[in-house]
Amino acid sequence: MMKAKIVSESPQSKLGESPVWKDGVLYYVDILEGKIYSYDGNIKVLHSDSMIPFIVPCNDGLVFATKDSIKHLIFKNDEVKMLFDMEFEPDIRFNDGKCDMKGVLFAGTMDMNEKEPLGSLYRLDDQVNRVLDDITISNGTIWDADKKIMYYIDSPTRKIRVFDYDAGNSSIIGERKSIDVSSFMGVPDGMTIDSLGNLYVAFHGGSCVVVFDGSGKVLRKIYVGAKNVDSCVFGGDDMKTLYITTAMDEKGNGGHLYKIKNDVEGMPTAEFKFCNSKLI
Ligand code: BGC
Ligand code: CA
Repeated sequence: MMKAKIVSESPQSKLGESPVWKDGVLYYVDILEGKIYSYDGNIKVLHSDSMIPFIVPCNDGLVFATKDSIKHLIFKNDEVKMLFDMEFEPDIRFNDGKCDMKGVLFAGTMDMNEKEPLGSLYRLDDQVNRVLDDITISNGTIWDADKKIMYYIDSPTRKIRVFDYDAGNSSIIGERKSIDVSSFMGVPDGMTIDSLGNLYVAFHGGSCVVVFDGSGKVLRKIYVGAKNVDSCVFGGDDMKTLYITTAMDEKGNGGHLYKIKNDVEGMPTAEFKFCNSKLI
């Protein structure tokens, strides 16, 4: 049985999410506590806001979301600049966000009551485009550059959607058959991809990360010592360490960072590219 190790230095997050790897450092957030953490052997709080649903790396720092905006944190002077100011209904907030191979940001929203399909997936470049609607909890977006595919999760559907993707135009051009993951405990949440195109899917409520090949065949299961496993990303000098974030459960357990050595190299975290945006 493969079991991830707890990173003992990591504090208990309420909702640990959005791990990214940039220049030898792991960053992740506690969405509900509104904190960005860095981990390079030691854990530090890098930045706080009222709520921080996701981060993506960029050349000079991080791009991060609040409930309904996207901001830019510049590391060298701790400066924060507004990139996109959105207006959502009170019960709607940003959730997961990732960049495609061109550095174009895709960020989704969710119903904070986790019931109604009131959310969307947005593409944010020189304008804001809604690319998917009727989403309840937007999660897990990742691309396979070789296969020209985008994988996407709306957690309560317990499916991984598979889209044909035009990388040149950063757009969805078709949809294939989804991968049904309803036989696993919990709901699929964040996901990442390795250099062979295998998917590493965190299961919120399922205490594991399940590894699928691109066709949806189960390759293996990685056990995590927390019920709510939220997201994962590859890092380490050789890009073979899978970092896994978790959330606290209803008993107050869980929420630490975990890691496990992988046999296959992972794909690096895609950076946000400012050249795609005329707004900046
Ligand atoms: C959301 C949580 C939600 C979980 C499971 C996460 O991405 O931030 O609020 O409970 O997905 O669907
Ligand atoms: Ca998530």
